Amino acid sequence: MKRLAPSVLSADFSKLGQEIEEVKKAGVRLLHVDVMDGAFVPNISIGVPVVRSMAAASDLPQDVHLMIEDPDRYLEDFLTDRTEYICVHAEACKHLNRTVQHIRSLGVKAAVALNPATGLSVLEYLMEDLDMILLMSVNPGFGGQKFIPQTLRKLRDLDRIRKERNLSFEIEVDGGVGASNIAEISAAGCDIFVAGSAVFGREDRQEAVRELQELMKV
Ligand code: DX5
Ligand code: ZN
Repeated sequence: MKRLAPSVLSADFSKLGQEIEEVKKAGVRLLHVDVMDGAFVPNISIGVPVVRSMAAASDLPQDVHLMIEDPDRYLEDFLTDRTEYICVHAEACKHLNRTVQHIRSLGVKAAVALNPATGLSVLEYLMEDLDMILLMSVNPGFGGQKFIPQTLRKLRDLDRIRKERNLSFEIEVDGGVGASNIAEISAAGCDIFVAGSAVFGREDRQEAVRELQELMKV
């Protein structure tokens, strides 16, 4: 099942609860939560208290994208009743296999994100343990950037590997996804579509969600 995951990074933080309610009404079933530490990426976003408040305010499952160095230190802190995925960056973990097992031990889905310039080969011996692989289609740190076109080839390669190896992890694409490219990204094998500015940058969030959900059907 393909799902749209609006990224709250582009939402109005002064009324987060309302923003989440609006996209939920439009049929959203997964919320993308971008956590940035100012070290792994050149920006600081939100931390544990905000993530926990969102989980208390809405029953929408969370896809927690940790753009932080050495994420093992904080995995338990980000875990709530709403956590569906915890996603760490391959580039931010010294012992990626250990971190993935740590996430799995918490009883939630384990995901690993790859920056645009990181090859798929870093996951060669880990793929079978993953519930999801996130392909960054912009350099992480900010919303509203332009989709890096090579991501499409990487996505097709990953989808092919998944089929060849008969694996069942989901593939998520994050960054610069919108009405102009979501159909092509979907056809290339994406299951979960992160959209920040394409949803919360629009006046009518519900209309934006419905449009994207229509376009991502293949
Ligand atoms: C970027 C974040 C993205 C971001 C996407 O570092 O990981 O999730 O919010 O925003 P858009 O959809 O505007 O590119
Ligand atoms: Zn993200």
